[in-house]
Amino acid sequence: MITELLEQRNLPELLLHNDGTPVTAETWERRRLELIDVLAEHQYGHMPAFTGSVTSQIVSEKSVAAGNAARYDLIVTFPTPFGERFTFPACLTVPVHAEGETLPLMVYIAFRYDEFYPLEEILGKGIAVASFLYQDVAADREDNYQEGIAPHYIKDGVREPNQWGKIGMWAFAASRLLDAVIDRPFVDRTRIGVIGHSRLGKTAAWAAANDTRFTHAFSNNSGCSGIALTRGKVGEKFPRIASVFPYWFCENMQTISVSVEASESTPFDQHFLAAAIAPRKLYAGSALRDSWADGYSEYLSLAAASPAWELLGCKGFLAKPYLPQPGDQYTDGSVAYHLREGIHYLSREDWMKYIEFLKK
Ligand code: GCU
Repeated sequence: MITELLEQRNLPELLLHNDGTPVTAETWERRRLELIDVLAEHQYGHMPAFTGSVTSQIVSEKSVAAGNAARYDLIVTFPTPFGERFTFPACLTVPVHAEGETLPLMVYIAFRYDEFYPLEEILGKGIAVASFLYQDVAADREDNYQEGIAPHYIKDGVREPNQWGKIGMWAFAASRLLDAVIDRPFVDRTRIGVIGHSRLGKTAAWAAANDTRFTHAFSNNSGCSGIALTRGKVGEKFPRIASVFPYWFCENMQTISVSVEASESTPFDQHFLAAAIAPRKLYAGSALRDSWADGYSEYLSLAAASPAWELLGCKGFLAKPYLPQPGDQYTDGSVAYHLREGIHYLSREDWMKYIEFLKK
């Protein structure tokens, strides 16, 4: 049944190079970069290369969670292309641990530190969290690229057609925060997750595609321009997202979003985003009452991306061959998924499932 559903989506070929030759395990990295390139060119814009060094200053340090963890408030600073520096606040919370012990690290791209964030329980599971508030990096509104990090890369608010938008900027900041913390001795480099919800679920997946130090990507209810396939999607579609949130994307996104037909005849679909994370781990979570994001299109995207992992000799998406039912969870492969009851939300239940997967 899944095979037929995927055939109906008529997706662009994942395992053929741009020149038409078949992708092999040996040429996978070249294909991965082609996937990132086509997604960048038409949708998110290209991520600038970063070569400078990042500093993090601890502005305060205190014991939290009733003695179970230490919390450091950080100021992250790095050089930017026009000879300046950009600075944003971040937070690192580390469970108490034995000397020499390493811990999984989750980089959390957050809206706010409130209803989406069961921090005590996360710490209780032995996970360290490095987090930042996305709007401390770039405002989530039309500001003509005058605020936050944007003017450090965009002159006078005028972008090249394939220059990045705010999803790219938030993803870039996740990597700079990782730069700031990765050398701490407690970090288990085989377990570094990046997590976000909704627009920040799109961002988390894009961050992991671009930065291979993220060993695990957690993309919650990411929907349109996230993990969900564009072709045949219900709920939100490109013409709507590109007109309401143009600043999330590059200017070229407008060209492919003039109509649903145009957005469904692009040389890519969102299974390219999922596959660009291979062979690392990807976990996407859907919610039953989130038809705007379209959980089935998220599920089908993982099924369509799975051959990338299989080509590399990894377990891909090990799911039952029918559309998911609420309560279904698939975590045996490198690509994981669950569909839970309820609304569009990053819930405690989602977090706990993601953390189990990160700890596996
Ligand atoms: C809007 C938008 C979605 C996005 C969501 C969110 O609903 O249309 O694409 O995922 O906001 O970030 O909460």
